[in-house]
Amino acid sequence: MRGLCFIALLAILSATAERIVVTNDDGWAVAQIRAQVNALVDAGHDVILSAPADNQSGTGAMQKTAQPRTEPCEFDSCPPGAAMGNNASDSRLNWINAFPADSAQYGIQTLAPQLWDGVLPDFVVSGPNVGHNTGFSVFGSGTIGAAGKAVQLGVPAVAFSGTGTAHESYTALDIVPASATVSAAETYASLVTEFLDALFSQPPTSPPFLPANIMLNVNLPALDGACTAESVAWVLTRVFPVLLGNPDVVTCGNGGRLPVEGTVVSQGCFATVSAIDALLKVDVSKSVQQEVLDRLVNLGFSCV
Ligand SMILES: *[C@@H]1O[C@H](CO)[C@@H](O)[C@H](O)[C@H]1NC(C)=O
Ligand SMILES: *[C@@H]1O[C@H](CO)[C@@H](O)[C@H](O)[C@H]1NC(C)=O
Repeated sequence: MRGLCFIALLAILSATAERIVVTNDDGWAVAQIRAQVNALVDAGHDVILSAPADNQSGTGAMQKTAQPRTEPCEFDSCPPGAAMGNNASDSRLNWINAFPADSAQYGIQTLAPQLWDGVLPDFVVSGPNVGHNTGFSVFGSGTIGAAGKAVQLGVPAVAFSGTGTAHESYTALDIVPASATVSAAETYASLVTEFLDALFSQPPTSPPFLPANIMLNVNLPALDGACTAESVAWVLTRVFPVLLGNPDVVTCGNGGRLPVEGTVVSQGCFATVSAIDALLKVDVSKSVQQEVLDRLVNLGFSCV
């Protein structure tokens, strides 16, 4: 009986265990990204963190060649000197002195093959970002730039963003009592993990988990007293309002128009999911929205 349970447990774990590169634009040492890495590892995934050495907020899809550092990484988390490096006692935790899109590329093309014996990642998680990325900010967001780069390199990716948190060092994760940023970082990390579980568990349960050439832009709600991980409702949205026509997938009796992410996420305990073109960062066709809706059926979308 025990043996059977063990085998059943292994089957569940292996069904959802993916190789994931985690990146962001706030830097490799912020509490949010470390909480995310911890949550994904705890959920059984194989994880590499590959993120900028410093805060690179607002750098969009920019890229450059990594240069040797003249100063320590953010929060004094690495010594000056190198252009890239890792945590000496945990080679899964990596920084690069470049932009978010570069760190996604470094994780996919250099670190993953090194650490996983030539194998590429199954998925890239960008964020959760410190601050929402809705509407026009999709063009300047490094969180979105990194996810878009991953998709262009052939790896499915989602950008996640939260709000009401600050840039705090990962060392704050160990401080009791937890700061508001740390408790939000932990809640966002569990929401992202839940989102990925829903995506990875829907057949076909192997990559690519999303339609080609698109990425998802997910904004998570402000976590005030009434809004907790359990009460968050997921809503399929679009990034930009439409002036004419009914271009979207028909769902929730919407007559072919999805609600706009910026409006929905500020309305309450809603997490918005928008499908965007990985290169142009604009809304996608209704047939692609339909594919995303089908892929995320286990998430249990709500109507607003
Ligand atoms: C991060 O960079 C952005 C854009 O330059 C800036 O607005 C923000 O204040 C920075 N945050 C910190 C904590 O340095
Ligand atoms: C490196 O990893 C060790 C062991 O997990 C940890 O104690 C230390 O804080 C980490 N440092 C950084 C900068 O990641």
